[in-house]
Amino acid sequence: NLVDVFADPAAIAAAAVDRIEAALAAAEASPTLGVATGSSPGAVYELLRAKHREGTFSLDGVSAVALDEYRGLPAAHEQRYRTVLRRELVGAARTGLREEDLHVPDADAVDPETAAVHFEGRITALGGVDLQLLGLGANGHIGFNEPGTGFDARTHLTTLEDSTRRANARFFHGDLSQVPQYAMTQGLATILEAREIVLIAVGAEKAEAVRAMLHGPVTADCPASVLQRHPRVSVLLDEAAASVL
Ligand code: GLP
Repeated sequence: NLVDVFADPAAIAAAAVDRIEAALAAAEASPTLGVATGSSPGAVYELLRAKHREGTFSLDGVSAVALDEYRGLPAAHEQRYRTVLRRELVGAARTGLREEDLHVPDADAVDPETAAVHFEGRITALGGVDLQLLGLGANGHIGFNEPGTGFDARTHLTTLEDSTRRANARFFHGDLSQVPQYAMTQGLATILEAREIVLIAVGAEKAEAVRAMLHGPVTADCPASVLQRHPRVSVLLDEAAASVL
């Protein structure tokens, strides 16, 4: 697996977009892109929009599958991941992705287990994910698979760690009480089925998790360490995130 260190987020985004373009071009039938939220993929989406504006890239005809979604936010809340991804990607003025092609877990379902099974069925019906973008939690989480999550987990409802809620409070005007306690996430087994994975980590607060992911034992203590078992992962880092490798 490939580890690359870059000078800044723009350079990371350029490398990620190269991988995305190659994966979508190589996909049989209609391609499916796995999309992440959080700050790490922001520069990637910005570059995809810029390329769409100049006519060199489009997600029209591509399906997008989200990693995770908060439970308990009002439908119109600006931090719902469906809303975030819509804002980043959907429409001719952004990347050409069609609203009906954006698939997000229904975390607020009355019956979350059925909703999770339904979401897994969507991914299967789309022919699986060609390339999954991932961020990395400072505690080693991917999606919202917190430490202790089983490697065989599929899409499920999960309880967020306090450290994760604190880390994400910056998206909620710094107000921890506004950060949901629960989320629905693709499981580690779901994520591992993507044909290719591109993980982006930026900043010194990720350095220890990056080290554990790449060089530590494959253990539920660091959920991202399961990526050591995937044959096609690119890890794109800035110098701070790579500083203890
Ligand atoms: C969040 C998201 C993850 C994301 C990670 C890192 O809680 N659920 O999907 O990858 O934590 O976020 P960031 O990129 O903002 O550091």
